[in-house]
Amino acid sequence: MIEIKNLDFAYKADNVLKNISTDIKKGEFVGIVGPNGSGKSTLIKTMAGILPVHKYSVFINERDIHSYNHNELARNIAYVPQSEQFYPVKVFDAVLMGRKPYIGWAPTKKDHSVVIRVLKMLELEDIALSFLNELSGGQQQRVFIARALAQEAGILLMDEPTANLDLRHALDVLQLLKNLSDTGITVVIAIHDLNFAVRYCNRIMMLNNGTIFSQGGSEIMTSENIKKLYKTNVKVFQQDSHVFFIPE
Ligand SMILES: Nc1ncnc2c1ncn2[C@@H]1O[C@H](COP(=O)(O)OP(=O)(O)OP(=O)(O)O)[C@@H](O)[C@H]1O
Ligand SMILES: [Mg+2]
Repeated sequence: MIEIKNLDFAYKADNVLKNISTDIKKGEFVGIVGPNGSGKSTLIKTMAGILPVHKYSVFINERDIHSYNHNELARNIAYVPQSEQFYPVKVFDAVLMGRKPYIGWAPTKKDHSVVIRVLKMLELEDIALSFLNELSGGQQQRVFIARALAQEAGILLMDEPTANLDLRHALDVLQLLKNLSDTGITVVIAIHDLNFAVRYCNRIMMLNNGTIFSQGGSEIMTSENIKKLYKTNVKVFQQDSHVFFIPE
């Protein structure tokens, strides 16, 4: 569970996040959408404990994020950044790093079995012994997702998890995240593709210029809202229970 109360955040002089308040319940799958620079990554980083926030503004499982130490936070929250630099390690070892918050002086059988399970989940077995720097961008992205899953945290924060993925892998990852949210894991992603967002997420949060412009289910995905958000005309279609968008 993530609770945000009147959160302001500034890198420099001007606030990038302005008076954000929201409650994300256990097992929700929230998709943050909005134009480039609207604050999606910044908001996710404040939830991940990566950016310093004021006290009493971000609560994780009803505790102020300030009250967690590093390992405790990593057992509760797994975060996959929009892009990251990495050491040239093997895929297996990169995923094993997700077990760091649990590992004492050496990894246990359980740590290894969790790594094997998530490698299979993301279809990475065949490249488990390849070096991360020799993989395609999409394969690297799946390794980072696997590493986050190995953390076995109750909250998953992912910044554009499908950005480098082909259509099938994008759908697989979104379906996996949806299945995880159905088991009670809270999932928050930033995502640009409105069709993916509305199809997989059970709540959409529209960010505009650092404020929540609108949030809710597919009913907020109107052509008016999308036009205000992106200054672009789209046609909204409904077929059966699916809503989808095509730029005009
Ligand atoms: N490290 C930083 N230092 C200073 N300003 C930053 C920093 N990171 C982001 N910003 C600024 O904060 C604002 C929000 O950036 P953020 O990365 O959160 O946007 P975003 O919604 O994730 O955009 P995108 O869709 O391009 O990923 C932008 O104006 C950006 O220039
Ligand atoms: Mg971003």
